[in-house]
Amino acid sequence: MNSALSYSRIAGANDRVSLGLIGCGGRGSYVATLFQKSPAVKISAVCDVYGARIDKALAFAQGARSFYDHRKLLEMGELDVVLIGTPDHWHARTAIDALNAGKDVYVEKPLMRTRDEGPLIVKAARVNDRICQVGLQQRSGWPYLRARDEFVRAGKLGKITLARTFWHSGPPRPLNRDMKEKPSNLDWARFLGPVKWRDWDPAQYFNFRAFLDYNGGKITDFFTHWVDAVHMMLEIDNPVAVMSAGGIYGGFNDGRTAPDNVYSLVEYPSEVTVTFECGAFAPQPEYGIELCGTEGRLFVNRNRLEYHSHDRGAPPVADRRPGDITLDHVNNFLECCRTRKRPNADVHIGQRSTQVSLLAVQAYVEKRRIRFDPAREEVLPL
Ligand SMILES: NC(=O)c1ccc[n+]([C@@H]2O[C@H](COP(=O)([O-])OP(=O)(O)OC[C@H]3O[C@@H](n4cnc5c(N)ncnc54)[C@H](O)[C@@H]3O)[C@@H](O)[C@H]2O)c1
Repeated sequence: MNSALSYSRIAGANDRVSLGLIGCGGRGSYVATLFQKSPAVKISAVCDVYGARIDKALAFAQGARSFYDHRKLLEMGELDVVLIGTPDHWHARTAIDALNAGKDVYVEKPLMRTRDEGPLIVKAARVNDRICQVGLQQRSGWPYLRARDEFVRAGKLGKITLARTFWHSGPPRPLNRDMKEKPSNLDWARFLGPVKWRDWDPAQYFNFRAFLDYNGGKITDFFTHWVDAVHMMLEIDNPVAVMSAGGIYGGFNDGRTAPDNVYSLVEYPSEVTVTFECGAFAPQPEYGIELCGTEGRLFVNRNRLEYHSHDRGAPPVADRRPGDITLDHVNNFLECCRTRKRPNADVHIGQRSTQVSLLAVQAYVEKRRIRFDPAREEVLPL
């Protein structure tokens, strides 16, 4: 983009940032309010396929224009940045359209629903020379940055051969099928988008995570985050093999297809294995990453870091800080929109992390060990 308009944006001549929100559900709306903490940001437009969600968004984005179709929102020339909070099956289409329209984009994780979509989004960002940050906020979070800089790079863990990641949630819940009639202000066909046609099913709207047509369930929801943080701390990216096991163990026979208990194991060329453990084991969600090395162990999650050396004489390190690291991630994006530097979770980083979780989904569905060529980023024949 070399137009005068884009130049005025990037040169910081006008510090106002005009934002369009696509997907005004839980996450999109929450992150939009974090953008509003910056006095420079004004939400000029909101878009959703459900009128009730648009109404909620207009309560915090007063005066914004509203749309049901993201293509109409993108016709607004004055928009500088677009925030995408749709479900996963719409990330690629909306991100590519926004990048081609010359907008800088903050798109929620997982970057894409299929591996094929990933390189197309990366290319749209590069061809149009746009900033594209993926909502993998741990890349901007103090525990992970501190773990990488002060422990991994400093050699305090020695050789790291295992990264254990986990998400232990409460018991799986029934699907929400209360809304028998489709609301007249919900565009169901637009919600489905690239997913094959089926008649209105409220569960698929409200619980899209339970259906593999829309996403990879808990694997893409959580493991994308955790494996991305491991990639960052260990400075690795593409794996050589992926396996998964699990199933719908929660006793529900209601049409859901995504596993509620699942275990994945990913091997990397640098002699490290990353595991993901996801099940209904805890009354309150518990999660985190444990890096296991020859010299010590380190636990991190979004608010906490703990280090124990194998040398029993060495004092442990513990740090805990409340707060949401997503704000740091949003600020990193806004800073990069000004400086035109690559953001912490640049689209290419997000593509590679999402790719691993999608391989884990494929291994779960196909019940096999997937061999992967890390240089060509291709699945190898059986
Ligand atoms: N980074 C994080 O920590 C984090 C946390 C939660 C959710 N997320 C991600 O955010 C995304 C949304 O999750 P959620 O929990 O907010 O879901 P949600 O169902 O609450 O919200 C999704 C919204 O998108 C709307 N939508 C669907 N198709 C659309 C389209 N074509 N155009 C415009 N709007 C459309 C829906 O009507 C809904 O209002 C998911 O991809 C999820 O993985 C990320």
